[in-house]
Amino acid sequence: NWTTTNVVEEQIAAIRAQVGDKRAICGLSGGVDSAVAAALVQKAIGSQLTCVYVDHGLMRKGETEQVEKDFVAATGAKLKVVDAEKRFLDALAGVSDPEQKRKIIGREFIRVFEQAQLEILQEDGPEVAFLVQGTLYPDVVESGGGTGTANIKSHHNVGGLPDDIEFELVEPLRQLFKDEVRMVGQELGLPDEIVQRQPFPGPGLGIRIVGDVTKERLDLLREADAIAREELTAAGLDRDIWQCPVVLLADVRSVGVQGDGRTYGHPIVLRPVSSEDAMTADWSRLPYETLAKISTRITNEVADVNRVVLDVTSKPPGTIEWE
Ligand code: XMP
Repeated sequence: NWTTTNVVEEQIAAIRAQVGDKRAICGLSGGVDSAVAAALVQKAIGSQLTCVYVDHGLMRKGETEQVEKDFVAATGAKLKVVDAEKRFLDALAGVSDPEQKRKIIGREFIRVFEQAQLEILQEDGPEVAFLVQGTLYPDVVESGGGTGTANIKSHHNVGGLPDDIEFELVEPLRQLFKDEVRMVGQELGLPDEIVQRQPFPGPGLGIRIVGDVTKERLDLLREADAIAREELTAAGLDRDIWQCPVVLLADVRSVGVQGDGRTYGHPIVLRPVSSEDAMTADWSRLPYETLAKISTRITNEVADVNRVVLDVTSKPPGTIEWE
């Protein structure tokens, strides 16, 4: 019979049998799946697991701390954090095309993650033979069902390593759906902020700035986004919406009147959507009071923003993200 306790016990036994006394690496993204997969593997093999978190500087307010502090506190996992903000911002400088941004972020992410893997391989200890991934059942079905291996190439000039290292995959969530993964996460003692997290794109706030990405713009968007999230949570709306991207139209300015006079600032877009699977979506009919509060607070508290607009487009024709 299916209980989360049974799933956890079964998976722990299976992970121990698979990994034995070797070591494993797990990349954390800040999302639910990688966090639950890592927590399960940590419970099974303890310090034989090293988690890696690449801080690309494109996360929302508080999210990196959630991984660095809350995840580690809840699981006791060994975590290597790579601060790669400058590298990502340098690579993104002057780039405003959405597909270009995605490509750059993906490429830099792989490079930084591989470098971290190589550093872990060079530490003293048993062989590192496994890579943990938070693959869910729907991903397995979509990709035809095979399990596999992952390669890293040691083209990073660190020396002393074989040219090509192959990891066997550990995928403890392969039989689970999203809601079951959340239940397992809860059972493992992960905080609600991690377990109940709404979807957030891998390229982060980088694809929520229409225009090129700078540190100043990211900081501004982080403030606006934090306010929107805070008010949606306070209004008890987190479960009613799929997610609510907050977008900065960095290339647009409009005239406003704030404080002592005329301003010429940027608009912030709120994009609350309801959806079952993100393939289609409808714009959420949020209460006017909540929208009013978010608008007032963002224009009062976030410098350089003088307008808040609401996206009332379903998907299709609009995608959920603006880029
Ligand atoms: P769209 O914008 O295509 O988004 O309607 C559908 C869902 O996918 C998320 N999304 C991404 N997730 N990497 C991700 O991991 C990406 O590049 C990416 N782009 C969009 C989006 O947040 C929504 O939940």
